[in-house]
Amino acid sequence: MGRLIIKPGVFEGEVSQAKTILQVLLELHAPMHFSCRRGLCGQDLIRVLAGWENLNPIGDLEDGTLELLRAKGKQMRMACCTRVVGAGEVIVEVVK
Ligand code: FES
Repeated sequence: MGRLIIKPGVFEGEVSQAKTILQVLLELHAPMHFSCRRGLCGQDLIRVLAGWENLNPIGDLEDGTLELLRAKGKQMRMACCTRVVGAGEVIVEVVK
């Protein structure tokens, strides 16, 4: 289990590596746009403030969407595709 912090003040705690950051946000009833849950629609963009190395790799669908959104290479991920897989801490914020 890794540690996840969602800023500002949304969540802080241990998370299973099976759970996406979108799932964590929805369980908290946090306001969040989403649709496809597959990395295609581009609605659930998050910014990774720390711990990038503790995240699962970016898949092809997510990679294409990040490129379309001009978010590739800018420490951004789609929340529906992103899981904490390392033992370290990850800090993210939702991009409005
Ligand atoms: S819900 Fe569509 S990209 Fe994440």
